[in-house]
Amino acid sequence: MNSATTQRYQKYVIPNYTRYPVCLVRGEGSRVWDDQGKPYLDFFPGWGCALLGHCPPRVVEAVREQVGKLIHVPNSWHTEPQGELAEALCTKLHWPSQAFFCNSGTEANEAAIKIARLWGKPKGKFKIITMIDSFHGRTMGSISATGQPKYQQNLDPLLPGFVHVPFGDLGAVAAAIDHETAAVLIEPIQGEGGINIPPAGYMKGLRQITRDRDMLLMLDEVQSGMGRVGEWYAHQLDGVEADVVSLAKALASGVAMGGILARPEVAAVLKPGTHAATYGGNPISAVAALATVQTIEREGLLGHAKKLEERFRNRFTALMPKCPWITEVRARGVMVGIQLSIEGAPIVKACLEKGLLINSTHQTVIRLLPAMNLSEADFNEGCSILEDALTNPVIP
Ligand SMILES: Cc1ncc(COP(=O)(O)O)c(C=O)c1O
Repeated sequence: MNSATTQRYQKYVIPNYTRYPVCLVRGEGSRVWDDQGKPYLDFFPGWGCALLGHCPPRVVEAVREQVGKLIHVPNSWHTEPQGELAEALCTKLHWPSQAFFCNSGTEANEAAIKIARLWGKPKGKFKIITMIDSFHGRTMGSISATGQPKYQQNLDPLLPGFVHVPFGDLGAVAAAIDHETAAVLIEPIQGEGGINIPPAGYMKGLRQITRDRDMLLMLDEVQSGMGRVGEWYAHQLDGVEADVVSLAKALASGVAMGGILARPEVAAVLKPGTHAATYGGNPISAVAALATVQTIEREGLLGHAKKLEERFRNRFTALMPKCPWITEVRARGVMVGIQLSIEGAPIVKACLEKGLLINSTHQTVIRLLPAMNLSEADFNEGCSILEDALTNPVIP
């Protein structure tokens, strides 16, 4: 990596991230290049934002065209792209909804939390049940919702009203409800928590409990949404309807954008003046998101993501007899977790050295969020590198 960049970061950039000593300068599809010209195959493009790989052509073209027409206008005006995007996202749900746009996942969840508070207020309800090992973002509301104490250390007092229960345990949810409980907020597949897939019937059970107890079911689909799992939204795999869905990450293929989709009768609590985002739904991110949706539709990528799920599962399950430290392979579309009984970080490092970018989460889970248009050749190349690293792990 160029030493001038290293020095600038050391002097001027707050060191709140663990960064690899690599400076990326260009990307195309599932490949990125560093400032020394070294290519990498990326099985974790943009931390889940680049669902179509780097610089997908329709998105690049749409942004280029829009940036010369109108970059930003506030939400005191209408724009064509925001309206078209709201229609595109809402009509992919199997239940009626309306959209609000913001700039990130944590902001989308803040909007959901506000909806729960505003909706619950006349009924005296404000509590929200969330799950242990969930991840909802870094702002004070979302970090309070997050069920991982390591992210909350020394930030107290947190926003009150969150009750954390084990993921996948319906009885625990039922036991946590009282007359002040307004909502359940849950990732339909936990991402950062280790690609945790709920047991069969759990999401349906949650829908039933929340309906019976006059509560909202709010789904954080920031990581699982936008087609990654082979359906537009992960809760569609479970055949349930929700009241609020939050989106971000892949929504605009890496152009900063978040949003929520909420049932009109629930969304009605967001009246003018109750919530806003200056950049929310701006024309640049809106056209990027529209081009993302169009690419997924025109290239039939939902089906491709389902095929990739099967191939990832088969490939790494087949490795288990040879690598007893692989204890489970969990996959939905291109959301893949390889559970290990050893630390994941050395595997990530070994892959990086061989030119493959992956991630490890929850210490022992290898997390892959590859592009849903990953080619056969790239799939095989990346899997071979990862197989090699998993077969010969360097145990520190
Ligand atoms: C499920 C989920 N929700 C929320 C967030 C926060 O999103 P952002 O970093 O865009 O605020 C993340 C980020 O990883 C996430 O995975």
